[in-house]
Amino acid sequence: MSKSNEAWGSRIGLILAMAGNAVGLGNFLRFPVQAVQNGGGAFIIPYLVCFLLMGIPLLFIEWSSGRFGGKFGNHSTPYILDSMVKGRVLKYIGVFGIFTNIAVVSYYTYIESWTMSYVYHSLKGTFNGMSQGDVAGFFNSYTDIAHSTTGIPYEAVWFYILCLIINVYILSKGLKGIEKVAKIGMPLLILFGVILAVRGYTLGTSGASSMFPNANAWDGLNFLWTPQYSSLLDLKVWMAAAGQIFFTLSVGMGTIHCYAAYLKTKDDIALNALSAGFMNEFVEVVLGSAIVIPIAAGYLGLDWVLNNASFGMAFQTMPYLFEQWGPFLATMGGFMWFGLLFFAGITSSLAMGTPWMGFMRDEFGWNSNKGAWTFGALALIMGLPTVFFYQQGVFDEYDYWAGTVSLVVFAMLETILFSWIFGMKKGWKEITDGADVKVPTIYKFIIKFITPLMLIVVFLGALFSPLNNDWSGNLKSLFSGNGWNLANSSIIKTITQSGLKEQIATATDSVIIQGLEDKMFYISMARILLISLFIFISLLVYLAYNKRVKEGRETL
Ligand code: TRP
Ligand code: TRP
Repeated sequence: MSKSNEAWGSRIGLILAMAGNAVGLGNFLRFPVQAVQNGGGAFIIPYLVCFLLMGIPLLFIEWSSGRFGGKFGNHSTPYILDSMVKGRVLKYIGVFGIFTNIAVVSYYTYIESWTMSYVYHSLKGTFNGMSQGDVAGFFNSYTDIAHSTTGIPYEAVWFYILCLIINVYILSKGLKGIEKVAKIGMPLLILFGVILAVRGYTLGTSGASSMFPNANAWDGLNFLWTPQYSSLLDLKVWMAAAGQIFFTLSVGMGTIHCYAAYLKTKDDIALNALSAGFMNEFVEVVLGSAIVIPIAAGYLGLDWVLNNASFGMAFQTMPYLFEQWGPFLATMGGFMWFGLLFFAGITSSLAMGTPWMGFMRDEFGWNSNKGAWTFGALALIMGLPTVFFYQQGVFDEYDYWAGTVSLVVFAMLETILFSWIFGMKKGWKEITDGADVKVPTIYKFIIKFITPLMLIVVFLGALFSPLNNDWSGNLKSLFSGNGWNLANSSIIKTITQSGLKEQIATATDSVIIQGLEDKMFYISMARILLISLFIFISLLVYLAYNKRVKEGRETL
């Protein structure tokens, strides 16, 4: 049995790897869109509150759980949780911490592969002289595999496979490979980010295109940074803010546990967790918000941004906006922007490989090579449907269940386990042992009461989101016996696909109906794949348990 004696090479390597895990496509593509869709300045306060009351506590919980499990030679959530709280079933909660990573990596590397292709096309000059419509058209054609006209047949598929191979190759080198990529990638990312952000902050009104003579980069920044207190009562904004905090900090996923399991027993947790967390927030709030929104607002106007905010926006507009800088700067802008996204992406997708590899090594003695290539194979099987049926909604379906709902469910369960079953007394000791800073004692209270409560509220809120987001009206109706009307966006109604069914019922055009029915079919297929993956990993955990019992390593 090849027992793991891997550990991080240096503290700076560890922090950069952890920050690289957190800093990802979410910081540059997801955050600006979430902020814009939730009212700009209205989003920021709930976002920061969620960072302080859920983000930081979850960082502490996951770092300390990971280091604790690592002492017993466990590097993935099923047995990390098992080493904290004994019980035959509780380790199955840890299945989420492997499942989420494999499901997310399969579509995440698809976006990552776009950034590689866009670097290539920026350097090659593909976008030169294209109109805004042409650039947007290029993206649509790129993701429409069967009818793609971007030059290389099946280009998106090849770049996707290439991207997976690069990830697998680095992973096969173990932690050292990850550390090396983080040490090169993170500084470059910050350098490129600062250059583009300075450009975003200084664009002013000078760049406006003739199409939108009144466009102004400052409109975009003001919109984001003028706080609006009215939103504090809007639960939907809170939900979105919590979702963004989870996604961007990589909490509720099992990757932080895994990285922290390679710490040494007396390594500091508190300061490391805070450094990586704040580095992520700097990149997100200072750099992430200063690129897409102000540059797009500067050339196309804030109204355009508000109407078109989507995460594809960065691919559909940025090459065109860079063109306004003249040919040389356009190439450099494209290279830096998509290069930055690539580094942001790869340091996160590498992290997603580690829980699987750690689990297979701990339980079945697999080496890094075997672990990395099987991880790549799983990602490919799960991922090809998102590539081929991107426009039929498979990608979004994965992002919803694995990239959103699972995070909240796992974060909620692990927090309850940590604070109430493992117990806050032991928990606090784990957090503060070896700490290089003093953690404010108020966090003991927050982690025990506030964080679990907020997580339960977020989860129930998502499960039962009311029609028209009208909480008070629906509560009144509930208490007067008239029931609760669910929104189609609630988890419960999403399960039954009732939004799509409604669209089908009201559509009249047979082509549209056919399209919607196809979409329902692909979404069901995506769910079958996700459920199969979850069952497969649960089975492996069961096999590992039996193996441990046979070897006399299981105490229960
Ligand atoms: N935090 C990353 C981002 O902002 C995403 C990420 C990293 C992630 N590790 C993960 C998502 C594990 C799901 C699972 O883009
Ligand atoms: N689907 C999200 C949206 O439409 C964006 C998003 C989700 C995303 N997961 C992502 C963007 C990962 C980048 C990376 O707004």
